[in-house]
Amino acid sequence: MTGLFLTFEGGDGSGKSTQSALLTDWLAARGETVVHAREPGGTELGVELREIILHRRGYIAPRAEALLYAADRAHNVATVVRPALERGQVVIQDRYLDSSVAYQGAGRVLSMPEVRDVSLWASEGLLPHLTVLLDLDPGIGRARLDASRTRYDRLESEATAFHARVRSAYLELAAAEPARFLVLDASLPVAEIQQRIRERVSVLLDTLTA
Ligand code: TYD
Repeated sequence: MTGLFLTFEGGDGSGKSTQSALLTDWLAARGETVVHAREPGGTELGVELREIILHRRGYIAPRAEALLYAADRAHNVATVVRPALERGQVVIQDRYLDSSVAYQGAGRVLSMPEVRDVSLWASEGLLPHLTVLLDLDPGIGRARLDASRTRYDRLESEATAFHARVRSAYLELAAAEPARFLVLDASLPVAEIQQRIRERVSVLLDTLTA
């Protein structure tokens, strides 16, 4: 596989979509063909799964939730991500398996290694070349969301303790795989965060084309 797979992770309101859109534009301007993907909901099937996962009324058992995200991931990887990578393109994706490990593994208090294994089975072992973790105090993320919306999905509506577990799980994952992760303070100005991401991606592109 010759393409480049970059993922963005972080709590709700950490600025993933802003940063990934800026990076997509920058790479496209450099002549790369970029596919901007997302989970959950990056495919037609995924849109239906996303509706169930995030907006279905009533209880969804934690393992069922983990499997629904895994189903979305399996389909997205098989029909969007792998084909693009095989064409040698750059895939920039908002959220990937680290979201499942942090939200379902730590947030829902399932086992982090087990949730990771389920995701790796779903994706046939696909890991990103680089994962940008936008680290933010969940209280600040929440305040950012409050300023921009009035309705919250099932995951966003979880208690403060849930989001605190998600944040520490992300940091734990980044510490365990320092070569894959770039951890940035998401309270810094947008342009400064973007600059650091571009520096790291430039290095990655140079090593891949060398
Ligand atoms: P996202 O699409 O990033 O939210 P929005 O578009 O509303 O900003 O993700 C929706 C929610 O799904 C988010 O709260 C995180 C959660 N999530 C998981 O719990 N596990 C996963 O594997 C993924 C991909 C997302």
